[in-house]
Amino acid sequence: MNITMIGTGYVGLVTGTCFSEFGHRVTCVDKIGEKIDRLNRGEIPIYEPGLKQLVDKNVNEGRLQFTTDLSSAVPGADAVFIAVGTPASRRGDGYADLSYIYEAAKELASCLNGYTVIVDKSTVPVGTARQVERIVREKNPDADFDVASNPEFLREGAAISDFMRPDRVVIGVESKRAEKLLRDIYKPLYLIETPIVCTTIETAELTKYAANAFLAIKISFINEIANVCEAVGADVIDLAKAIGMDGRIGSKFLHPGPGYGGSCFPKDTMALMRIVQEYGENVRLVEAAVEVNAAQKARMVKKIRDMLGGSEAGNTIAFLGLTFKPETDDMRESPSISIIPALMERGASIKAHDPKGMEEAKKHLPKEVQYCNNAYETCEGADAVVLMTEWNQYRALDLEKIRKLLRQPIFIDLRNVYDPRTMRDLGFRYAGVGRGAMPD
Ligand code: UDX
Repeated sequence: MNITMIGTGYVGLVTGTCFSEFGHRVTCVDKIGEKIDRLNRGEIPIYEPGLKQLVDKNVNEGRLQFTTDLSSAVPGADAVFIAVGTPASRRGDGYADLSYIYEAAKELASCLNGYTVIVDKSTVPVGTARQVERIVREKNPDADFDVASNPEFLREGAAISDFMRPDRVVIGVESKRAEKLLRDIYKPLYLIETPIVCTTIETAELTKYAANAFLAIKISFINEIANVCEAVGADVIDLAKAIGMDGRIGSKFLHPGPGYGGSCFPKDTMALMRIVQEYGENVRLVEAAVEVNAAQKARMVKKIRDMLGGSEAGNTIAFLGLTFKPETDDMRESPSISIIPALMERGASIKAHDPKGMEEAKKHLPKEVQYCNNAYETCEGADAVVLMTEWNQYRALDLEKIRKLLRQPIFIDLRNVYDPRTMRDLGFRYAGVGRGAMPD
């Protein structure tokens, strides 16, 4: 199968590479020449575990190539995937900016030859695939094509394994011919009995938003319950374990923390709210999840301030982790982007370390942040340490050493990595999230 992937961002690059690993011949196209040059030199523009090895292997075996030339990449393709960015619109109104998708549709339209399935891979509002269809039809009335929607559910940091062992694949199609072609593309997954859910195009488009909104609601729910645990003296870890054992609830995405971030949940919840408004409908639970998430980040600032005795002014705070989650260098919508400046505005100095995210962090955080080489250097002379992102590197810290390096033994664990009682016994003043119970 010949596949063209338009867009070499996170989704396009991972998807294109994994398709080549399936044995398909894949051409990845991007307008940014510098990005394509880097990829052709074997440099991967993002940090994603396992991706470089897979790109190298498939390039060497001749199944994967990168180009800026769309007009040579589209003719002869059985399927053209559109995986360009859909950033939040610059108007700041929560709508997704679809101009890159429509531009791609226009450009590819005149290059089609022979039957081709044009697949939306980017997360797009309901109705976008139809719009792509109209654009292509208008530009090239004789073209033989179908459109389809094939949303991705990849988690950053685990994208390769999510792609290779997905819970399901969702395909929104209207013609049997397109369905067969997409099923053939995903054939290697039949061997591991991955369910393929075939739906209408609109259903597939909405499925992605519904999945992300549900997960965002689940996180905001457990964050609120964590706050209740703090108020009543209960422990959210035991509580989450107990409710998660109910098969109807499930144990995943019940980890309280500083609020969700990343490229998907914040953007997609906002976009869903805007989509439903246009249809005169409501998603009140989603609206509440968004509000709760903003409040959770603000609450973390207060938690840190309270631990410092009511004022952060004049204190140095050590941040371990800056990215929105571990195993990525992505800083988009990371809670650290709002928490750190809020503390600095009130007179705190910040030292910080992140295993992969420091270069990205510099683009998002005030320039006065002092970046360090490791966790211990970060904690040296600080008044408190905040464990912001649960990187493996921070899961087995030499806690005695940390305590001695700190000016005050204050440990604020926003990911509940450590046990409150052990921390107390080690001499720390410790706060987690939702750890209200402190038995002897
Ligand atoms: C998410 C979806 O999981 C994925 O299916 C979709 O395609 C893109 O968006 P991603 O943003 O990479 O993936 O990360 P994810 O692991 O889902 O975490 C998102 C955020 O939620 C992170 O900030 C994480 O720290 C937070 N989170 C997650 C929690 O606070 N608690 C949890 O229990 C789970």
